[in-house]
Amino acid sequence: MGKSTLSLAVLVVLAALGGCGDKTENPSGTSTTASSSETCKLVSTKDNSPLAIKVVDTDTPEAKEFLATCVNPYTKKYATDAEAAKAGRKVMTYNGCTGCHGGNLGGLMAPSLVKNGGTGAFDTKWVYEKNATDKGMFETIAGGTPGLSGGTMFVWHNQLPGKTGEGLPTDDILKSIAYIRTVYQGDGEKTWLK
Ligand code: HEC
Repeated sequence: MGKSTLSLAVLVVLAALGGCGDKTENPSGTSTTASSSETCKLVSTKDNSPLAIKVVDTDTPEAKEFLATCVNPYTKKYATDAEAAKAGRKVMTYNGCTGCHGGNLGGLMAPSLVKNGGTGAFDTKWVYEKNATDKGMFETIAGGTPGLSGGTMFVWHNQLPGKTGEGLPTDDILKSIAYIRTVYQGDGEKTWLK
């Protein structure tokens, strides 16, 4: 580790030295165009550190759109298309989300995602306020949680360390969120439909 860090540092210094004399060669700075497609800056719900989630070749157009804009294109679609929303339900049953959150997502050993009332502290409101936005809920599911409700949820995104099993691609998480939005009955504003 130390050794490779050192050689990397040497390379960086060499590159900087080499670049000294020819600043005009590349005036547009085209060497820094890497990953301009991920302009949605995602942060962990655990500790606010950046979540390093990139666009990959297998990403759907919807996943790419989300990583560029922070907008989940499935949310508005599922709101008016119950047939399409079934794809989100399928992701959640297939991956065992319903095992913890309940078959109808009304809560079990994990908080209700329907929020239609009950005696628990989080039966009517989000555990994390940020989950009222699709970006916030994506961060919660992708990167895991710190346990405010008494239990923690682990990391789901397949690009993040500590992921559950194979983990989920960006697209599956977006579909889950859009489905959760369709079952929500809390009295909070449906900000995600704006
Ligand atoms: C092993 C149990 C378990 C599984 C499986 C699980 N969760 Fe969770 N989930 C939790 C717990 C516990 C919390 C509360 C976390 C906290 O308080 O930090 C939570 C919180 C959440 C929240 C935030 C709820 C709120 O009120 O703010 C969402 C959204 C969510 N989970 C979605 C999912 C999705 C989608 C899946 C499947 C991909 C999933 N969960 C699978 C245990 C689980």
